[in-house]
Amino acid sequence: MLKRLTYPDGHLGWVATSYQTVRAVLADPRFSARSDLRHMPVPGAPGNGVSARAGMFNSMDPPEHTRYRRLLAGQFTVRRMRQLTGRVREIVDEHLDAIAGASGPVDLVRVWAQPIPAQVICELLGVPYADRARFQGHALDLFRLDRTPEQAAAAYSAVHEFVRDLVAAKRDAPADDLLSGLTAADLTDEELVNIGFVLLGAGLDTTANMLALGAFTLRTHPGAAEVLRAEPGRAVEELLRYHSVIPFTVRAALADIELDGERIAAGECVTVCLPEANRDPARFPDPDVLDLLRPSAGHVAFGHGVHQCLGQQLARVELQVALPALATRFPSLRLAVPAADVVVRTGSLVRGVAELPVVWATER
Ligand code: HEM
Repeated sequence: MLKRLTYPDGHLGWVATSYQTVRAVLADPRFSARSDLRHMPVPGAPGNGVSARAGMFNSMDPPEHTRYRRLLAGQFTVRRMRQLTGRVREIVDEHLDAIAGASGPVDLVRVWAQPIPAQVICELLGVPYADRARFQGHALDLFRLDRTPEQAAAAYSAVHEFVRDLVAAKRDAPADDLLSGLTAADLTDEELVNIGFVLLGAGLDTTANMLALGAFTLRTHPGAAEVLRAEPGRAVEELLRYHSVIPFTVRAALADIELDGERIAAGECVTVCLPEANRDPARFPDPDVLDLLRPSAGHVAFGHGVHQCLGQQLARVELQVALPALATRFPSLRLAVPAADVVVRTGSLVRGVAELPVVWATER
């Protein structure tokens, strides 16, 4: 289904909400992901109306996009993902140990949902152990939208500087990590730094919010923990469908396009709503019901088409390991406030909860 939408900057574009239309737009090469053609349905989103910097392939179209995507796919290998799975388990256990050592209540977002994906990205990019605290602080700062433009620019510069130093170190002494692997490709330093940025931007906040919402769901849906432990793969797909943390993505028409009986003119933007597509009753019966055993494959929480999430296998590993581990280690874990009082995150493009205060019975 397509509807007209007036964007905050006055652009008259479209919004797509049905599963079929969302997939049709995302699969059609006549729709562009270029940031210089993009109008956003929310005010203040950074980087729109300007051309993508070298290496920022998420805002490029084929064939430019294809070149970067191939290089990266060669680094997201089965071997590396397998290695990372072992490390994800260790990282999750370390964080659960730290929680067990606290007397509660703790904010699960701060002590668990945010640091786990940050540590995993460190492993992926090859951030040395000693630099991890500095990296994590900077990286999480990058995604706060409750900042003055000066503070936001300072956070951006700090991360940029950090990734630039890291790239220089990898060029000097390559190791067995993704950035080192990319130094062998024909890429400039600027491209490498911006690729590091894209991975950070795409992989950190998304996974952190899915972890937090997943943990919330475990507490608010009786029986969820048992199903998750028994069928983590299936249950995580349903959690991804149900929560759909990326609310939308935008494409611009490169030509006049007929779709769903409407005529989208060249230059008009379509806001593609992923949560609405994932709750389209024509595709998922009783879509508002969380059913951890339903077949949710085919959901669009990771997008669709050539830009479909590059890190989806890694995100799945993190969710499939971390959520059952939390349920197993803290069977008595419960929210420290009524579920209705858990504050939803605002001021961010990624959906989630601001805090998740929890308590548990101390096991003796
Ligand atoms: C792209 C969702 C985790 C890296 C995307 C897109 C979505 C998405 C919807 C497509 C955007 C578009 O079409 O405009 C998610 C969710 C995640 C997650 C829900 C966690 C639950 C990750 C992780 C990484 C990652 C862990 C990497 C470490 C990327 C990259 C792209 C992307 C690089 C751009 C791909 C391209 O343009 O070719 N993600 N993502 N994501 N994601 Fe993820």
